[in-house]
Amino acid sequence: MEKLKIGVLGSGKGSNYRAIQEAIARGELNAETRIVISDVETAGILALARGFGVRAEYVAPGRFRTKLEPEAEARVVELLREVGVEVVVLAGYMRMVKEPLLAAFPGRIVNIHPSLLPAFPGLEAWKQALSAGVSETGCTVHFVDRGMDTGPIIAQRPVPVLPRDTPETLHARIQVAEHQVYVEALGSIAAAIHSGFG
Ligand code: GRF
Repeated sequence: MEKLKIGVLGSGKGSNYRAIQEAIARGELNAETRIVISDVETAGILALARGFGVRAEYVAPGRFRTKLEPEAEARVVELLREVGVEVVVLAGYMRMVKEPLLAAFPGRIVNIHPSLLPAFPGLEAWKQALSAGVSETGCTVHFVDRGMDTGPIIAQRPVPVLPRDTPETLHARIQVAEHQVYVEALGSIAAAIHSGFG
């Protein structure tokens, strides 16, 4: 079966991207990363991509804090198209996705969020879960729409909250689950797209 051609957007250390790239290398995910793009020049995810021999591009975000300047987002679209990306994978990308990216890849942008959505959307969802006193949280892979962490859910994985958890221990446990569920969800998407149902 044909490989799913992905483009990854991230702002941080890139542990989800690493998990995806390693699953590809092990032959467990039938995909190929065509490009990794970041709005943070020093982001670990760009260094990781270079280490894997994958094209890594920094796109200066412009003057806004929570979204890319329209010209910057247009540049992201141009790069993704140039390398033939089919699915855009957000992996710790800390900005809202706007036009023209949404319009360029309708139903083809996915995100991972560290909670069982619709619970705890937004920033530091693991801290929200601790403050709420829930005994279980988790992570969610979902399609991206105009809202903040609101698009259709693709897959979820529950994670227990333990009595002595700190934000750091809980986030670390959620990340282990993220790395598994993101790879599995992308595998399903690859199968769906290349079997003609995408
Ligand atoms: C993850 O917790 C993810 O759920 C959230 O941002 C974090 C990214 O971590 N969207 P990493 O850069 O993949 O390590």
